[in-house]
Amino acid sequence: MTTDPDPLLTDLLLTNLQSRRDDDHVVSLDGTWKLILDPYDSGLINILGERNKTGYFRDFKPRHQGDRVEYDFDTSTDIEVPGDWNTQHPELLYYEGTAWYRRLIEVDDDHAARASAGRSFVHFGAANHTTRVFLDGEELALHEGGFGPFTVEVTGRLSAGTHSLVVMVNNRREPDRIPAMRSDWWNFGGIHRSVELVHTPATSIIDAWLTMAPDGCLTGGVTVDGPEAWALEVRVSLGDEVIADVANLADGEQPIDPPSSAALGFERWAPGAPVLHRATWTLHNPDTGAVVDEVHDDIGLRTVRVDGTTLYINDVETYLNGISIHGEGPSGGSRAAGEADASELLDWAEALNANFVRLAHYQHDEAMVREADRRGLLAWGELPVYWGIDFENPATIANARRQADELVVRDRNRASMILWSAANETLPGDGRNSFITTIIERFRALDPTRLTTAALLTLPTNSPNTLIDDPLGEVVDVIGVNEYLGWYYGDREAIPETTWSSTFNKPLVFSELGAGAKFGHHGSDDEIWTEEFQAAVYRAQLEMINRQSECIGLSPWILKDFRTPMRVLPGIQDGYNRKGLVSEEGERKLAFELLADWYKEQP
Ligand code: GCU
Repeated sequence: MTTDPDPLLTDLLLTNLQSRRDDDHVVSLDGTWKLILDPYDSGLINILGERNKTGYFRDFKPRHQGDRVEYDFDTSTDIEVPGDWNTQHPELLYYEGTAWYRRLIEVDDDHAARASAGRSFVHFGAANHTTRVFLDGEELALHEGGFGPFTVEVTGRLSAGTHSLVVMVNNRREPDRIPAMRSDWWNFGGIHRSVELVHTPATSIIDAWLTMAPDGCLTGGVTVDGPEAWALEVRVSLGDEVIADVANLADGEQPIDPPSSAALGFERWAPGAPVLHRATWTLHNPDTGAVVDEVHDDIGLRTVRVDGTTLYINDVETYLNGISIHGEGPSGGSRAAGEADASELLDWAEALNANFVRLAHYQHDEAMVREADRRGLLAWGELPVYWGIDFENPATIANARRQADELVVRDRNRASMILWSAANETLPGDGRNSFITTIIERFRALDPTRLTTAALLTLPTNSPNTLIDDPLGEVVDVIGVNEYLGWYYGDREAIPETTWSSTFNKPLVFSELGAGAKFGHHGSDDEIWTEEFQAAVYRAQLEMINRQSECIGLSPWILKDFRTPMRVLPGIQDGYNRKGLVSEEGERKLAFELLADWYKEQP
């Protein structure tokens, strides 16, 4: 049974934020907020099941000594934003439910004047899973999805004075969510990425993108919104060269379609050789020349395409020496956020001699993909369409589509991003095939220049050859293969002779392989959980992969041990998946150097 979507459900997404930060139009709301736990949602709903008119979102204070107010943000728990709540307070490690965040926003006269001259938005990097946003007691927006960015307009609401921003976040797992009831990672809850107050002109650029198509031509789009859009144009420049002028801005997103020569003379971006050029979108009045708004982004120019079972970057045959990464910081087992985490995780990937990172299972912090651009690392982005999903539910499909939009619209300026993955280890079936095909088609509609993929589940067979015949192979451009020979199934000795083939004549990426080991636990390579055991599985796997003609690369599972409630073996797992090549504190296991040496010898 599907109910009509909540009218406050938002898909508003303001992009190009780095540009607005550079131009000092962004106020960070990160830092210490207040938190009230609410496992029964009593701060939202009263005993009659109706909206609680005196709920926590009103941020009430007693008006006189007899006034009954049964909550008080000011004297409640401190919580840091960005950050999951699970690892900030020991009693919250396993908490799944609703929590209320409150942050007071002080607006001085100057700020109020700036805000009243244009539009104002609160931008969330991500909050897991379902978020309701209130300002001064009024509900403004609802957002679903735990890993994508979203924006809430607050224009006209920021007069001089103190304002109460209250955010209700609920991370309960539900069968109709994405992901749904089970995932092999920790269900971190809360506002786990940055929150910012963004000011733009009354008519402004909402989204601007530019990337290189497989034929070497530039393509992109620009979306302008506001009362003056009809009278304005956008001038697109790359470096100092004007490459396009865009009109008809009142009609929604407009394509940017520069002449094929526009990219000539600009050095390409390539794996290991990152070159970024400044693209600028200038919203102006073509008659007077007055500039109304302007955003910029530093983008890399490269082509990506497949031909048969070969991958080409800038028409050079490329092999993906990769590693899978969860969005967990380098230390402490909590959600990764910001540039420092991104930089340390990608330092480790580069120490592996990797040229590719699979940003697994969900959209990662924007800092990761920006850092990958700067370092010349290729990247795989993914939606959390993971294991058991309610594929037949229209609301679930709509949720996946919104998350697909967030994934592509935020990151389609990033040269590092070459693969959009629609799913991980979902079981074939008509509903699933249709659901994922819808997502793949959405990826292509938003960005026809990149490749699409999905990580497929492979199960053990008795023959030395495994045929990949998942019907999704017809739909995607690159086939991701998750296989655990030598760990979940298969004799280690037989691995090198194993072969893989598909009927699709498309490239295969071994998107997962690996084995578990506790750092510092040593013994024979037949003793499970030793570093030697893990290294022996890698040795056998790499020998097999060397022989796979249809394989364009691998992203072994996984860079770092990570928290999961599914791994409970005392003294070994203790709530962590131990397939990392480094421990949860960054200590390198034997397999780390083994893989790094192997990658160094690869083309
Ligand atoms: C699966 C899944 C991962 C999981 C891994 C494992 O392939 O995609 O999310 O962590 O196997 O079992 O360790």
